[in-house]
Amino acid sequence: MSGVPVFPSTAGGRTRTLVTGGAGFVGSHLVEHLLAAGDDVVVLDDLSTGSARNLAGVADNPRLEMIHGSILNSKTVAQAMHSCDRVFHLAAAVGVKLIVEQPLRGLRINIHGTENVLTAAIEHKASVLLVSTSEVYGKNTADRLREDSDRVLGDPLLSRWTYAGAKGIDEAFAKAYCDQEGLDVAIVRLFNTVGPRQTGRYGMVLPNLVGQALRGHPLTVFGDGLQTRCFSAVEDIVPAMVRIERDPRARGQAYNLGGAREISILDLAREIIATLDSRSEIELVPYEQAYAAGFEDMRRRVPDNTKAHDLVGYEPTTPLTTTIMRVAADLLSRERLGSDAMPLAGAGSFRGVV
Ligand SMILES: NC(=O)c1ccc[n+]([C@@H]2O[C@H](COP(=O)([O-])OP(=O)(O)OC[C@H]3O[C@@H](n4cnc5c(N)ncnc54)[C@H](O)[C@@H]3O)[C@@H](O)[C@H]2O)c1
Repeated sequence: MSGVPVFPSTAGGRTRTLVTGGAGFVGSHLVEHLLAAGDDVVVLDDLSTGSARNLAGVADNPRLEMIHGSILNSKTVAQAMHSCDRVFHLAAAVGVKLIVEQPLRGLRINIHGTENVLTAAIEHKASVLLVSTSEVYGKNTADRLREDSDRVLGDPLLSRWTYAGAKGIDEAFAKAYCDQEGLDVAIVRLFNTVGPRQTGRYGMVLPNLVGQALRGHPLTVFGDGLQTRCFSAVEDIVPAMVRIERDPRARGQAYNLGGAREISILDLAREIIATLDSRSEIELVPYEQAYAAGFEDMRRRVPDNTKAHDLVGYEPTTPLTTTIMRVAADLLSRERLGSDAMPLAGAGSFRGVV
């Protein structure tokens, strides 16, 4: 039901922060961080890809209010924004698979929903951290992508590019509201953020491969597997997001937040198998089989994190193997693997990490 509080509301003199998409993967880690820092936190989430279970660890916290509703409903957004000092805007239709399959839904949520959040923030004099994505750079394979690097996007009629298109519009909206209406807004562009609670259901590579390794199934790697990414741990990203939001120098600016180590998806699959001591093999799957014919992927995507480092000291430190172990532990503990889950060959050493 739209606009229905799930957890009780509180009042107080502390910072009151709205997190849209707070029941999602990144959002739930952010909510925990903000509650631990002493904020009152309001979560607005339609639970489409997120889950109340992601907030189970803090559900009893009296400083958390959860509103089940959509950012497409401007009245619900205004209700959620009431008395808030700031908003972290994460609610979005996310994941290549979801976007390719339902482009219209994605465009509506990611453009109209975001504008609802930005206009409500102006009305309520709240500051905004807009969470954008490295997808905005599209097919630019520059050695290090800077915030002012060119965008290289494919045919706008390909649904694959609607996510990058919509997030780019979101950023342009944020900047225009900042320049013309005085909105206090900063933007972060996340690069492949990974960690516990990320689901593989919507095409996210790391939890998918970890799930396959846990089951002893082949790890399905798309294309030739030589495409590279830089994965960053959610626990490195969240504190940087909060520091950027607080810094007045970030107003009207965008910041990359990505991992430090470039790795091919093939090597990622190998590292997952080795870390989890899995008996799985690797199977290369043509893109046309995984997605529709003509699907385009980025050969590489490498961030230049200098701007965030210089502003707030951002430095990704969590090793990828640590994240792989944490994701595996999370998948097992949440029983996301279903009835065909098979115990790990190396479960003895692995259990120690849970
Ligand atoms: N995880 C990454 O690697 C990554 C990379 C780049 C950008 N991002 C951005 O980070 C943000 C969070 O992504 P995530 O990875 O946690 O994904 P997620 O799917 O776990 O989180 C999105 C949340 O938004 C909610 N939501 C979706 N539509 C909504 C609507 N209409 N109204 C209210 N809530 C709605 C979902 O239920 C979910 O809880 C997104 O804005 C995404 O674009 C994530």
